[in-house]
Order: sequence, then structure tokens, then C-alpha cells
Amino acid sequence: MKGGKGNLILIVMTGWLCILGSFAYWFEMDTRREEKRKALTTANAFFQQVVTSRQWNASHGGVYVPITTETQPNRYLPIQGRDLTADNGLKLTKINPSYMTRQIAELAIKNESGIHFHLTSLKPIRPENKATEWEQRWLKSFEQGVREQGEFFEDGESTWFRYMAPLLTGPECLKCHVQQGYKEGDIRGGLSVSLPYPPHTHLHLIAGYGSVAVLGLIFIFIGTTLYERKQRLFDATFNSPVPTCVTDKNHTILMANESYRTEFGPLPDHQKTIKCYEHRPGISCHTADCPLTRIMGGSNQYAYETIKEMDGVSRHFIVTAKPLLDARGMVVGSVENFQEITERKRAEEALEESNRKLESLSNTDGLTGIANRRRFDEVLAQEYARHARSGTELSLILMDID
Ligand code: HEC
Repeated sequence: MKGGKGNLILIVMTGWLCILGSFAYWFEMDTRREEKRKALTTANAFFQQVVTSRQWNASHGGVYVPITTETQPNRYLPIQGRDLTADNGLKLTKINPSYMTRQIAELAIKNESGIHFHLTSLKPIRPENKATEWEQRWLKSFEQGVREQGEFFEDGESTWFRYMAPLLTGPECLKCHVQQGYKEGDIRGGLSVSLPYPPHTHLHLIAGYGSVAVLGLIFIFIGTTLYERKQRLFDATFNSPVPTCVTDKNHTILMANESYRTEFGPLPDHQKTIKCYEHRPGISCHTADCPLTRIMGGSNQYAYETIKEMDGVSRHFIVTAKPLLDARGMVVGSVENFQEITERKRAEEALEESNRKLESLSNTDGLTGIANRRRFDEVLAQEYARHARSGTELSLILMDID
């Protein structure tokens, strides 16, 4: 019994944790998907902004800016007219889109926006533009047709969302990139954007689901213990030595205890059902005295004496029927118990018989069996009393027959 209880609690608790675990997993995955979707949109907006300014630059075939210590001529741009001196003597140099992007990226870092841009390619002209390991992986996937990539990652200190999309070779790019064999529509490289994110913490998740899990476990423990206790009480009552049987309103036997089955025979297997009038036919079956009919008719308790012929022997029972109620208190059948009184009945009958014998012994003559003087006195007293009540005549004949 104890083992059974432990198992039930364990099964219910495991089930609860599994359900909650799957829900937490599903919810976490959904939250992550949503977070990623938002991060992708944000990163893509930054990407588009930089791409637009690059296109603007490329559409002019590069733009001239004053040469300063920070902005030195680009040694990777060996075109004629790269450097100029303006009428006022100001020295200018041409900034190609890639150079411009680099400067924007440096500015973004200087401004502490936290956003990192990186222009890269699988075939870089400038060695510093070489793709990192993950950029290489993604650039290759773009060659396979992937349109963008993004993922959260931890670098030990903080959480980042890194994003990358391909930079396609447009007609304006060919001015400078046609020498490398690129044609319109080719993937020239990619621009990666890394956005800082607050670290992914599972603390709130663990605290939230943990407390729900513990609360659930406590409820399950209390509930199962109460249920088990009720079940044990029920078993103790139901499995008493008094044969007991539960019948639904259609006369189908729902359950019966061991004593009942010993007394009236086994019940059919689980799949099959049997009616009470088939299992233990009796004189009250199909009459108004059927206890179930009485109970369904509104009786709170119905007790009656019955005789059942079993294996050729008449056995006497006192049957007590009580209503079987559902959760809403509606009567849905009856609970009957059978108290056998065959022995008591026999004893009563034997007592009556011996009383009768004793009486006749005391009223008859031992030798002839004819009524004796005691009997005469009794009958005279009886008849006299009748005469006194009715006022009729009373005759007494005295005869001597020897
Ligand atoms: C005015 C010339 C010029 C134009 C126009 C131009 N580029 Fe470049 N691009 C360069 C030079 C020079 C480099 C290499 C050095 C550097 O980083 O500046 C470069 C580098 C790059 C890189 C980085 C990888 C590497 O090779 O180092 C990418 C990607 C790129 N260009 C894409 C484009 C795209 C796309 C366009 C059209 C929107 C374009 N470029 C237009 C001159 C140009």
C-alpha cells in the first residue's frame, strides 16, 4: 500500500514537472524567437542605413574630403585623380565607400553607441578586411542563397547580437571593382553589424517557473495524500466482511467487494458487465420491492428480508440499500449490503418448534396424549372469559369414560 502511494505521488509529480518543463521550454523558445526577430529588424535597419550612404558615395564614384592626419589617402585606391589640390591650396583625397564605412565604424565606436560595423569579403583587397571565422561561414552561406544571418552570442563579458547581410555589386560599384572580375549582381562581400544586448539571464525564468513548480508539487503532495487517505478509508469500509455491491441506475453492477464475490460468485471481466438481477436473482427482482427501484424512487434507506436459493439451499438475508450519489449529490444508483441471517432464522425456527413441543407436553397426558387437567383449566378459563365478554351461554359437560 505504501509503495503504491509513493508511486502515485511520484508519477503525478513527474507528470507535473514534465508539463511545466515543456511549457517553460516552449515559452522560452518563443521568447527567444521573438527577441531574435526584433534584433534582426533593428540590425537590418542599421545595415540599410550604412548601405544607403555607401550607395550615395559609390554613385559619385567616391567623394573628396580634406586630407588630415586621420584621413590619409587610401593606398588601396590606385586610381588617377585620387588626390587633388583645390584652388585655395586645400589638399583633397577621394574616399571610396569602403573607406567611408571604416570611418563611420570608427566614429560609432568613439561615440560609445556600442554598435560595431565591419565590412568584409572572402576576397579582400585590403588584408585588414579579412572575414573572421563566423563571417566567412555566413559569407559562404550568402553564396548559397541565404539572404541574411543573425544570432545572439556571448563573448565572455557581454551578450551581442551579430548580424550580416551581403553587399551586392551594383553598376555604381563596377567603376572600381570590375578589375577583380566582379559583374553586376555578384556578392562583393558583406557588412556585419554587432549590437550590444543585456546579458541573457535565466534567473527570472528559474525563479518564476521554480516557484510555480514547487507550489504545484506541494499541492500534488497534499492532494495525493488526502486522496490516498480517503481511498484507504474507503477500502477499509468497502472491503468489510459484509458483502457489499454498488449498482448504477440501470441495474448494472459497478463494483462489489471480496465478501460479495465469495458469497454470490465472481463478476465478469472488466469489459463485460452484468445486471444485479442476473447475478443474484431474488424474489424482489422486477417488482416494486426492488431496492434499487425504491432508492431511485427517493428512499434514503431501504431494508428488507429476502431469501435466495443458492446451490439448492435457501439462505436468508437482510438487504440494506442506500443511495449512491454523484459529485453534485444526485442519486445515480445504490449501494447494497447483505447481512446473512440464515443461522439466526434456523435458530428461531428451532426455538419455536421446541416451544410448541413443550407446550403440548405440558397440556397432554404423557400416556394417552389426550389433553390433561391443566389443559382443562386453561380452556375453562378462556371459555369463561369469552362467556363473560359476549354474555352467551356456557355449557360444561362432565363425562367419565372409564
Ligand atoms: C571609388 C572606387 C570604389 C567604388 C565605387 C566601390 N568600391 Fe568597394 N572598394 C574599393 C577599394 C579601393 C576597396 C579596398 C580598400 C578599402 O577597404 O578601402 C574596396 C573594398 C570593398 C569591400 C571590402 C573588401 C575588400 O575587398 O577589402 C567591399 C565589400 C566593397 N568594396 C564593396 C563595394 C560595393 C558593394 C560597391 C558598390 C556599392 C563598391 N564597393 C564601390 C573601391 C571602391
